[in-house]
Amino acid sequence: MKLPNGPQSPAIAQMLQWVAIPMSLMTACAKRYGDIFTLNLTIPIVIVSNPQALQQILTGDTKEFSAPSDWNKQFESLLGKNSVITIAGEAHKRQRQLLTPAFHGEMMQSHAKTIRNITEEIIQSCQENKTFCVRSVMQQITLRVIMQAVFGLYAGDRAQELERVLSAIMDAGANSPLRTLFLYYPALQRDLGKLTPWGTFLRRREYANQLIYAEIRERRQNFDASRTDILSLLMAARDENGEAMTDEELRDELMTLLTAGHETTATALTWALYWIHKFPSVRYKLLEELQNLGDEFDINTIHKLPYLNAVCNETLRIYPVGMLTFPREVKEAVNLCGYDLEPGTILMGSIYLTHQRPDIYPEPQIFKPERFLERQFSPYEFLPFGGGVRRCIGNVFALFEMKIVLTTILSKLDLELVTKQDVKPQRRGLVTGPNQQINLMVKGKR
Ligand code: HEM
Repeated sequence: MKLPNGPQSPAIAQMLQWVAIPMSLMTACAKRYGDIFTLNLTIPIVIVSNPQALQQILTGDTKEFSAPSDWNKQFESLLGKNSVITIAGEAHKRQRQLLTPAFHGEMMQSHAKTIRNITEEIIQSCQENKTFCVRSVMQQITLRVIMQAVFGLYAGDRAQELERVLSAIMDAGANSPLRTLFLYYPALQRDLGKLTPWGTFLRRREYANQLIYAEIRERRQNFDASRTDILSLLMAARDENGEAMTDEELRDELMTLLTAGHETTATALTWALYWIHKFPSVRYKLLEELQNLGDEFDINTIHKLPYLNAVCNETLRIYPVGMLTFPREVKEAVNLCGYDLEPGTILMGSIYLTHQRPDIYPEPQIFKPERFLERQFSPYEFLPFGGGVRRCIGNVFALFEMKIVLTTILSKLDLELVTKQDVKPQRRGLVTGPNQQINLMVKGKR
């Protein structure tokens, strides 16, 4: 089978580059081979950044293409066998149906006030004339928000313990390239004792499981149908056969939402605050728009603010947190960008390369929110949340959260960027994030 061209270096060399410098590798390949190329990793993977081809893949998600049945199994160690991320086909469709109502717009409204309160509470610790590390404050906010949205609580020993152990799992995974290799090479996933990276991970996972199962047990015993948190909604949800989710399914989905919904949004917020304070004109225009809000806290008005929306979109465009879609597998022989691809070929959409295309985004390296005011981009030109049947289930939640957190911070704190060097993206586990710490100084409080 003839696959699209790509680098000829040995698979292990490509894998090391993929783990250490994925964005540079993709950029170099796009320059040399164009919109579609093949990387030889543990298996050949075709990387695509052409919007028409992405449309073909993502709209054909159930016919010519599908989520590979075994690929996402690499996430089972953390998320379990029943997570919406690790399952495929009919089981995936069923699970999406059970989860989707918890993410409807009206549900998001019910979380808006909580997000604002959590943000206000956490930024109180940012003292005047002192600097703070943006990522660590954003992580505290997003972890507490997701705990509240998922469990409906964040006070109490169990919630605090869960916050602590999840942060430890996520930080260890994000800060160590070795951990990324563990995911690609399951043979490395061996428990060699509590002092080894995998051994530590297994023990933390076990502890997180105990906490989550204890919460599920308690909530089943005292079920309250009036609650709007995701756990309550999932407990009440029934599939088309009238079946409810089992405890194991609930644990896997809760773990999925807690991990997928926390680090990603914290990174997006960190970048947003960096860009807003790097360019005074961006900050000025945003503050001007926010001033018109007055003291009213109306989430619908905030959600529709054009410049705030453009800043969030440009943040998610320039350095997308998810640099790739999940893999798709060719189900029926198909022609893509002039290549005849056989069933079994694995493809990934490169969100990063698509967002860096100069034919869609002139001067793509420049942060320019105005581009989102000047034109509309198709869902295959701008796809920070992927697309098709695996499109991010938390996309509305994430955008709501970004807008509320940014509005709250900008209306309460007068901030200045302390980090003067240009910050670039780098891999953080399976996603991306800033390559250095970003610090802001509190110049005043309002
Ligand atoms: C700025 C924040 C976020 C970004 C950039 C992001 C990005 C993504 C991307 C690129 C995908 C893969 C889509 C595809 O393959 O087509 C994805 C999937 C997913 N995301 Fe997000 N995400 C964010 C926040 C969230 C939040 C807040 C949640 C939950 C509360 C969440 C839950 C999920 C889940 C469960 C999936 C898997 C969906 C499936 O396989 O059916 N994400 N996300």
